[in-house]
Amino acid sequence: MKPIRFALLGCGTVGSGVVELTTRNAAYLAARIGAPLELARIVVRDKSKARKVDPALLSTDADAAIADPSIDIVVEVVGGEDPAGRWLEEALRRGKSVVTANKSLLAVRGPALLSLAAEHKVDLAFEASVGGAIPVIRTLRDHLVADWVRSLRGIVNGTCNYILTRMRDESASFDSVLAAAQELGYAEAEPSLDVDGHDAAHKLCVLALLAYGAAVKPSEVPTEGIRAIEPIDHRFAARFGFGIKHLAVARETKDRSLDLRVHPALVPARAPLASVDGVLNAIAIEADGAGSQVLVGRGAGSLPTAVSVVADLVDVARNRRAGVAGLLTHGLDITRRPLAAPQSQEAIWYLRMRVADRPGVLAQIAGALGKHEVSIEQLVQEGGGGRRAVDRTGTADESRVIVMLTHDAVERDVRAALDYVDAQPFVHGRSLALRVES
Ligand code: NAP
Ligand code: HSE
Repeated sequence: MKPIRFALLGCGTVGSGVVELTTRNAAYLAARIGAPLELARIVVRDKSKARKVDPALLSTDADAAIADPSIDIVVEVVGGEDPAGRWLEEALRRGKSVVTANKSLLAVRGPALLSLAAEHKVDLAFEASVGGAIPVIRTLRDHLVADWVRSLRGIVNGTCNYILTRMRDESASFDSVLAAAQELGYAEAEPSLDVDGHDAAHKLCVLALLAYGAAVKPSEVPTEGIRAIEPIDHRFAARFGFGIKHLAVARETKDRSLDLRVHPALVPARAPLASVDGVLNAIAIEADGAGSQVLVGRGAGSLPTAVSVVADLVDVARNRRAGVAGLLTHGLDITRRPLAAPQSQEAIWYLRMRVADRPGVLAQIAGALGKHEVSIEQLVQEGGGGRRAVDRTGTADESRVIVMLTHDAVERDVRAALDYVDAQPFVHGRSLALRVES
């Protein structure tokens, strides 16, 4: 039987997992595809690195691998926009199907790559780009094909979830936990993509393509990372009955615009997302027909991600063998959709401020919030009277920490109130505002 031959561009954390799974399960994959799957070329940046692969397959020439007429499928696990974007365009133009885990590329050029795949009647598959091992792409693309997605709330960055979990459970320092996430192969080559929220925003753009047929640029997604979260926030959130999670949210508003955002948020302790810890990811989907469902699984790392890459490889190989390449995303209708105006949505807010321990301060803060239409539902203060507040760096100061939950308030008003409060001489540093997402 003629094999289906694939070129693997990149053999790092994910690529080495793809080599391991396709080698270990070769016979079963051949049976499921109906033809052997042959790893024909591996492209890397540095051929001299030690790797558990056949050295005869290695090269540094991606263009030659893509131009090789015997290659049916190109698997890209290099990352970044360039040169990966150029390579994938070339592969699609040459009639090869493509499998990629590259969410930063898809977020920016996904609609164009999908058009190119349709034009050349080949598949573009990207299950591994969101949620690691979780089959969220095929859930949105195939399973919910007859349904209407109202909202998505996802813990989609394993590094952020791992850091938040260890800071909560061990009061571990941000830097030490980030280093551990890098060691474990969870973090991006540039980890600020993870901790500043951009990776989650890229993934949200990919999810919006399938859930809403919406072409959204990452720069249009209001994005916050987790650097401002301190162990004290986990403690106060728990006291109010919540956990803190870094979320990517997409939902249709009443006027059918899309409200898209990425930020840390308080989630009720009894909600499914609250118990999703460590490197686990989860995507809670609300759809008209199916109702609520939550998909949970390992969101990063070598084998969890490679499982999704190989699942795509099998789909794409089967389609080629059956002569129906291009079916995976056939008929997707991607358009621009109106987006909700920034800061226009209401939420309950968790506010945390550090203020000088002196009389009258609380009244001034409450007054400032009231002037901006923000009313307080609960308030707790700590520090003063012999107690000291300790920040993330371990520094004790004479601050009193004030934490509150508001009633529903529009984000714009909350931000304006905090800008005013933070400008007052009695406030130490920047205050924190986190939404409550229920
Ligand atoms: P990685 O460990 O840094 O591996 C990147 C691979 O690409 C390496 O083999 C590297 O070669 C190769 N490479 C980089 N630049 C190249 C170039 N110019 N020419 C040829 N080869 C080049 O990255 P990764 O963690 O596997 O991630 C790969 C992709 O999967 C990214 O898009 C990432 O966002 C995505 N992803 C990762 C995870 C995860 O858990 N790590 C999960 C989901 C999706 P050398 O080995 O010679 O350096
Ligand atoms: N850096 C990403 C994360 C890898 O931590 O979620 C998986 O996409």
